[in-house]
Amino acid sequence: MVPSTGPFEWASTPFTMIATPKHVQNLSDTKTDEYVEAASSMAVFHNLLLRSLNTIYLQAPHVKDGDKKAFVGYAYCWYDAIDAHHTGEEQEFFPWIEEAAGEKGIMDANVEQHKIFEKGIKEYGSYLRSLKGKEKTFSGDHMRSIINSFGPPLHQHLSDEIPSLLALRKYGDKIHLNELWDKQSIGKFTLHSAATRIPFYLCNLDRTFEDGLWKDFPEVPKLAKDFMGNWVARLNGGYWKFGACTMTGVPKELYAKGK
Ligand SMILES: [Fe+2]
Repeated sequence: MVPSTGPFEWASTPFTMIATPKHVQNLSDTKTDEYVEAASSMAVFHNLLLRSLNTIYLQAPHVKDGDKKAFVGYAYCWYDAIDAHHTGEEQEFFPWIEEAAGEKGIMDANVEQHKIFEKGIKEYGSYLRSLKGKEKTFSGDHMRSIINSFGPPLHQHLSDEIPSLLALRKYGDKIHLNELWDKQSIGKFTLHSAATRIPFYLCNLDRTFEDGLWKDFPEVPKLAKDFMGNWVARLNGGYWKFGACTMTGVPKELYAKGK
């Protein structure tokens, strides 16, 4: 594990970041292969999920009444992101991998792990939905207790999935892992994702992680990134101050914190 570091108390705990294979193996762009690339992309995305979960865990007890509605909306973006990620894996990415490998069940261990924390994540989503219209009753302690119920097995799963992707190398040219990663519909632009998922991702992607190795992740033209960060993020604009980073991926101090 390589914890992200910041110059201040930051979103690097309680769930620590996962080192990417590309960084661990110290590979340049010319030496890497698509298994390392895809497993590393997955690790960067998993870190986004862990880092943003940390922002929710750390800030939940300190949110002032006037900010609770925005915080509940922000925290729900995490539910939306993890739900879309795991649904995408189960319905698209993993079946495509098995089809390409010509072997059924090789991704079953990952799907089985999803079941371990599914109940806790569902409870997280339904608690936030139950607050609609009465967001001021949001309890940071209750939010933390729900996260405590699924956080450790979720962290384990997000870590374990990386070597499981690297292990697919034994199938050689049969699987084009990077192409399958790019093909997932989760990455496609929709109105819903523009107003919630994309700004949520942008303000939780640490572009300084692993000495800036991922500063251009994902590969989207700079103009499009700027448009997202500057304009699209104005939708639900009250949410993103709770993010771990600025819209350009620079770590920032948490907005809601204790004394
Ligand atoms: Fe994953």
